[in-house]
Amino acid sequence: MAESLKFSKSANRQTIYEEIIPQIEALVKNETDLTANLANIAAALKEALGFFWVGFYLKKGNQLVLGPFQGPIACTRIDFNKGVCGYAYRNKCTVIVPNVDEFPDHIACSSLSKSEIVLPIFDKQGEVFGVLDVDSDKLNDFSEIDKQGLEKIVRIIEDMIEKSNQMNADSLKAIF
Ligand code: SME
Repeated sequence: MAESLKFSKSANRQTIYEEIIPQIEALVKNETDLTANLANIAAALKEALGFFWVGFYLKKGNQLVLGPFQGPIACTRIDFNKGVCGYAYRNKCTVIVPNVDEFPDHIACSSLSKSEIVLPIFDKQGEVFGVLDVDSDKLNDFSEIDKQGLEKIVRIIEDMIEKSNQMNADSLKAIF
């Protein structure tokens, strides 16, 4: 595993996404543990792009439950009908919120968060497995560039989930 993430600190976001995506791919390639990989992905995004908060909410029963994240402490459980995360979950689409105060139902985990992007993560059946949530302390901080960059990272996560499901199925078959 590489010791550190390499990226051009003063480059624009598009360049930084292009630089870190192959490194994120390499980082998760030889590790099948989902929590470990999501933790490293949150850390990589926070370090390279300097976001205020980066993390995952994963579907558990009828709620989204806080998973690995980087940033200030956050709310632990989100109902499907609440928040930007719930909206992305229900509508199965990426949501960019330029000003969180103008989004009905936004859940303010921190008053410092001003804008937000949430992306659904799908399982092989096309159901939402969880969401990637990124918050900024600046208004209107997310654009199509973030949507495209983060969606590429979500696709890496989806492949990883599929691979680790496959491995679990194979090891169960070996036991029974
Ligand atoms: N703002 C989110 C809640 C999670 S925090 O931002 C970490 C929402 O409205 O769903």
